[in-house]
Amino acid sequence: MKIIAVANGKGGVGKTTTAAHIGVNFVKRGYYTVLLDTDPLACLEDWWDGRQSDDLQLMSVPLDQLNEAIPRLREAGVEYLIIDTPGFIAHKVTELLHQADLIMILSKAGPLDLRATRRSLAFIEDVKTPMVFVLNEVKKGTRIANDAVIALSQRGKVAPIVHDRNDFVVSMIDGRTLEEIAGASKKGIEEVDTLGDYILLQLGVKHPKTIDRSPVKQPTAQVIELKSKRVTKA
Ligand SMILES: Nc1ncnc2c1ncn2[C@@H]1O[C@H](COP(=O)(O)OP(=O)(O)O)[C@@H](O)[C@H]1O
Ligand SMILES: [Mg+2]
Repeated sequence: MKIIAVANGKGGVGKTTTAAHIGVNFVKRGYYTVLLDTDPLACLEDWWDGRQSDDLQLMSVPLDQLNEAIPRLREAGVEYLIIDTPGFIAHKVTELLHQADLIMILSKAGPLDLRATRRSLAFIEDVKTPMVFVLNEVKKGTRIANDAVIALSQRGKVAPIVHDRNDFVVSMIDGRTLEEIAGASKKGIEEVDTLGDYILLQLGVKHPKTIDRSPVKQPTAQVIELKSKRVTKA
């Protein structure tokens, strides 16, 4: 099981949105993917509660109970565990980041966001887990976006950019992702697919499974507390 942690000590940079989109993207490739929400505000769980499709499972776990939850998910055969984290870096978040296989550091391109990202990095400088920066909600063609890529690339790898798109906001209203809303922007869909490919590549997957946009079934894990649509809403 590969663990992907989505992090930044700052709120509002797109951690939850990205965790949801990458989760759905991986599930549509046929990978057994589980979302794990560790944020006390439970935004990812709220999103998932509104989801009609039963393809993706979610577990909501307080940070201090992760050490019990992760081995169970591993035993259940989960291939990708995507962990959404709160908008603060506490000791327990750092512990989680140590356990991850990859950290996606979400950031927006503005100076306040970049400074907060720099400060977040200072909190986790002991963490040796590979990291990639994901610039999110970027306004197309702006100088500030180019500057942000240059600034972040001095500190590490920068993933393909995700632009500012209203479809990302709209889709999250009722448990969907951008690709699941009618008339969603093709470019937006491509951006998520490209980011998914990139994340898989960082985890050593050179030939990722192709995306099947029809509903995907995945096994129901025998994991206590794991929320599964087919179990809870049958
Ligand atoms: N690429 C994007 N384009 C437009 N709006 C976005 C994008 N990503 C996130 N948002 C919006 O930004 C806000 C914060 O996103 P969220 O995922 O909750 O961030 P975080 O989890 O880091 O606090 C939400 O209103 C969300 O809909
Ligand atoms: Mg969030």
